[in-house]
Amino acid sequence: MSAIPRPAHLEGLERYEAGMSLDEFERSSGLARVYKLASNENPLGPSPKALAAAALALQRIHLYPDGPGTKLREALAARLGVSGSQVAIGNGSTDLIDLLARSFLGPDDEGLTGSAAFARFRQCVAARNHHARLVPMKDHGLDVEALAAAITPRTRLLFLPNPNNPTGTWNTAAEVDALLARLPAGALLILDEAYREFAEEQPGYPDGLALVKAGAPVVVLRTFSKAYGLAGLRVGYAIAAPEVVSAIDTVREPFNTNLVGQAAALAALEDEAHLRATIELNRAERTRVAAALAARGLRVLPSLANFLCVETSPRAGADVFKALLGHGVIVRPLGPYGMPGFLRVSIGNADENTAFLAALDEVVAG
Ligand SMILES: Cc1ncc(COP(=O)(O)O)c(C=O)c1O
Repeated sequence: MSAIPRPAHLEGLERYEAGMSLDEFERSSGLARVYKLASNENPLGPSPKALAAAALALQRIHLYPDGPGTKLREALAARLGVSGSQVAIGNGSTDLIDLLARSFLGPDDEGLTGSAAFARFRQCVAARNHHARLVPMKDHGLDVEALAAAITPRTRLLFLPNPNNPTGTWNTAAEVDALLARLPAGALLILDEAYREFAEEQPGYPDGLALVKAGAPVVVLRTFSKAYGLAGLRVGYAIAAPEVVSAIDTVREPFNTNLVGQAAALAALEDEAHLRATIELNRAERTRVAAALAARGLRVLPSLANFLCVETSPRAGADVFKALLGHGVIVRPLGPYGMPGFLRVSIGNADENTAFLAALDEVVAG
């Protein structure tokens, strides 16, 4: 049988390594209890209102969804104070990252981001035209000054995740303004706010929505996967100028979001109490886990998200990851982000976090 050659334009591209799936690990480990703290999901689960809406929507899954997700767009637009033509819906916000790369990058245009920024930026740019440029980080956060200095006339998309995954670090409103001032005409600043609900009360946290409303060349990306607890249904959205939304709508799959996801997201938006409980649990547990790690002499990067980035060196993050797996705790080693001496742990509920800390004690003692 003759081998099928890998297409030349895919040379050098790596796959996105998602956090280990619970099913896969539960099956193979034989452990009685497994704690998944690897994908920054909501430890409270979905809102009961979203669940009820999803159950109702299941009765209609013989039908195609409304392709543009009109009801959800309109609900988001009303809530955000923008027009429906300024909201695009994606199959998770990763879909929107890919759609932006596909819509806006010509053959020679560059996408710019930090070397330890969320991996999908560079991967989507690479899949489009291989012109992803990565700028070194500063104190493990995105370095706005270095990003601005790296801009060239070919820079078309600049990705700033805020807070960033996997570091949890964030950039201020003043930094975002400074970056915008140096963006060339025709370029777009993508403010990825996947974790904004956990961060927005921090003084100085940028208001991406206000920038879009003021006509700045900004695309804000948000998601129902994190604070809204709907990661499995894949719904994200972009807020941007109508021209950007129109470009995304031209390129996207006609039915890129599904019928159940649209219905659940619409209902989740209405459940303020669940959102509040999620944010408060995260704040309390993030503070507790960070303090517990610091008390063990481990360095923790400052985080505004629902996870912590912890230094394990001189021990490799991958070693600690493997040892924690043996105790049924799944975290994320950060070698693929050029941070081999770090791991990322999601903030779970109190039980899960306590189990993580206990397992870590055994791993470190061992
Ligand atoms: C910074 C960042 N952006 C986007 C995403 C993707 O989220 P979604 O589930 O909406 O595709 C993630 C998920 O981990 C993320 O960390």
